[in-house]
Amino acid sequence: MIPVRSPAMAQLGFDGKVAIITGAGGGLGRQHALLLASRSALIVVNDLGGAVDGSGSDAGAAQLVVDEIKQAGGEAVADNNSVATADGGEAIVQTAIDAFGRVDIVINNAGILRDKTFHNMTPDLRDPVIDVHLNGAFNVTKPAWIRMREQRYGRVVSTSSAAGVFGNFGQTNYGAAKMGLVGLTRVLAVEGARYGINANAIAPLARTRMTEDILGGLGDKLAPELISPLVTYLAHESCAATGRLFSIGGGRVAEVFLGETNGYFDAALTPEGVADNWATVTDREGYSVPANLAEETALFLPFLS
Ligand code: NAI
Repeated sequence: MIPVRSPAMAQLGFDGKVAIITGAGGGLGRQHALLLASRSALIVVNDLGGAVDGSGSDAGAAQLVVDEIKQAGGEAVADNNSVATADGGEAIVQTAIDAFGRVDIVINNAGILRDKTFHNMTPDLRDPVIDVHLNGAFNVTKPAWIRMREQRYGRVVSTSSAAGVFGNFGQTNYGAAKMGLVGLTRVLAVEGARYGINANAIAPLARTRMTEDILGGLGDKLAPELISPLVTYLAHESCAATGRLFSIGGGRVAEVFLGETNGYFDAALTPEGVADNWATVTDREGYSVPANLAEETALFLPFLS
């Protein structure tokens, strides 16, 4: 595979577009903030500054990243509200409006972990994880969305995970939230289409405090800054992709998609008919990749007409 590097391609610039990046006091979010700021985006560096499990808070984390951006000649403002409440989401968007007068880009990145096997999963482990990842994206994107609709432009990039999309031991809370973000993204793409708003999701793999204990030797190859080029492209106005999910890590970027087999049809379907034709039901030859519900429904039509 030969990388295509066009010397003629102008650098993707953001020319004063305003980006909210949640959880940007460290890890991946910090890298997104630094890269977008270096491309002339105005940044809201949001971070509660707590531990990996979501406990505690520290206003210093976001401010440090703001200082870093300013030292490099960029523009940024710190915000320490939690994404986990509707009030927090409103306040984060208000920070963008107060500092820069608008919001063009939301990068839903804040996250916590409370891993436990499903049979030991309790509400105190489940709810905060869903509140930060899934409800957090609702809480921040909603007030931004109102403005994006008005200005007929917006970019939303949400951080999903292979742990939810593909499954991983001990992460029902996290996996459900992360796959929930895929559903949110797909519906936002449908609803945003008329308003110039694109929504996409990423499933990253990188060395951060969240993953440093589990990546082993591979961690050396998975620098967190290698996630930000994809996020930056998805946040750019030249990127037409919407409703899509991308896997990214260590310099490799790929698309993850939901496919549907052609299926088996019998107008008088029985349980035995399903069992007998399981190979046809699950035959992935010639599968389809519907972009939305309407395209999925259309797959029934050849059988029903
Ligand atoms: P991280 O722990 O360094 O970053 C997460 C940030 O979110 C922290 O700075 C934390 O203070 C902040 N945060 C937590 N709760 C918050 C809240 N309620 N409000 C505002 N900020 C809050 O970890 P990392 O790896 O940078 O994670 C970033 C995102 O990427 C997360 O959503 C994570 O689930 C996701 N992810 C990361 C992977 C990896 O390989 N590092 C793999 C798959 C997903």
